[in-house]
Amino acid sequence: MSDNTSTHIECKEYTIYFDSWDQLSSSINEGKYSKVICIVDDNTESHCLPILEQKIDAPLSVIIIKSGEKYKTIDTCTKIWKEMMLLGADRHSVVITLGGGVVGDMGGFCAATFMRGMTFIHVPTTLLSQVDSAVGGKLGVDLDGYKNMIGLILNPSAVYIFPEFIKSLPNRELFSGFAEMIKHALISNVSLWNEIKSINPLTQSDWKEDIYKSVLVKYKITEEDPLEQSIRKKLNFGHTVGHAIESENLKNEFPLLHGEAIAIGIICECHISFQKRLFSEESLNEVTQFILKLYDRHPEAVEEFDGIISHTRHDKKNKGGNIRSTLITDIGSAIIDQEIQENEIKLALEYYKAL
Ligand SMILES: NC(=O)c1ccc[n+]([C@@H]2O[C@H](COP(=O)([O-])OP(=O)(O)OC[C@H]3O[C@@H](n4cnc5c(N)ncnc54)[C@H](O)[C@@H]3O)[C@@H](O)[C@H]2O)c1
Repeated sequence: MSDNTSTHIECKEYTIYFDSWDQLSSSINEGKYSKVICIVDDNTESHCLPILEQKIDAPLSVIIIKSGEKYKTIDTCTKIWKEMMLLGADRHSVVITLGGGVVGDMGGFCAATFMRGMTFIHVPTTLLSQVDSAVGGKLGVDLDGYKNMIGLILNPSAVYIFPEFIKSLPNRELFSGFAEMIKHALISNVSLWNEIKSINPLTQSDWKEDIYKSVLVKYKITEEDPLEQSIRKKLNFGHTVGHAIESENLKNEFPLLHGEAIAIGIICECHISFQKRLFSEESLNEVTQFILKLYDRHPEAVEEFDGIISHTRHDKKNKGGNIRSTLITDIGSAIIDQEIQENEIKLALEYYKAL
């Protein structure tokens, strides 16, 4: 992939375009949509909407939501659906989700359900949403603090990735997205892991190539198993414990970001893999040291062992009352549907807390 060219990945149901403003603009014009509705949050309204408005030659009807995971709820969806009605949206309109994973998951969900479904396009604006959430069709919202409990899997008509958007991202958000890039490398191949290890998100100026490689991992897995019957579960590595930590901390005044929780979840699930003698101590140390070099420690986030374990019991991957997780057998190789015990989670949390 050359830096100066726009490129794309052709999926079965949609296309992922990189740096293709012309393509986005012409597809909006050629679509002859009755309305172009752009969903933003209060940050992407100021940082990203002006860029989009300058680049595409079509009038936009804008719906603004409050930013943050705590607004990823059915109440916010109701607000979006009502605004769509007021704006006169119909099934011939198109929705552009311009934002991170929250706007993408929730805006896509609203579009997929409004009048039984409208066309929608993701324009992800965070590192996390570019490498992960905009690809693979998962849409939805949280319920009572439990992550992504309501939703569906439905692909957009296209995804447009513009790495320039991440220039305005706060550093914490950059690291949050980088956690999913770490995960993609750990579950897929050792050479990508070695490349990831050489990145310092704070000094990285050009992300295009690395975003592209990370998207390829997600694309290949989700194309092979779109409905998460098998191999797609590999993408949940770090997320059984990570989601539980994220959910447990959502009630705090300053909750962890998704990727910050996933970074801890990756360490813990490497440790559970080590406890089960699937993963070597040397590799556990390698992953742990790399994550600790980049991420602040959050021992306070894992203090509520019982609360975190209770959240893992609500994980969508569980079966028959048993907690199931994706684990790791080597760097670059993950194994799905592994039953894990509460005492193994507790030991992993204690390991992280003591680091
Ligand atoms: N659908 C999936 O497959 C999938 C995968 C992973 C994560 N997710 C979901 O994604 C969400 C996390 O996504 P996220 O990390 O993008 O969070 P987010 O959408 O909350 O965005 C993070 C923050 O960055 C701000 N922001 C966005 N773009 C910006 C920009 N260009 N400049 C400045 N600020 C900007 C947002 O307003 C927000 O405050 C979670 O809800 C998670 O469950 C979904």
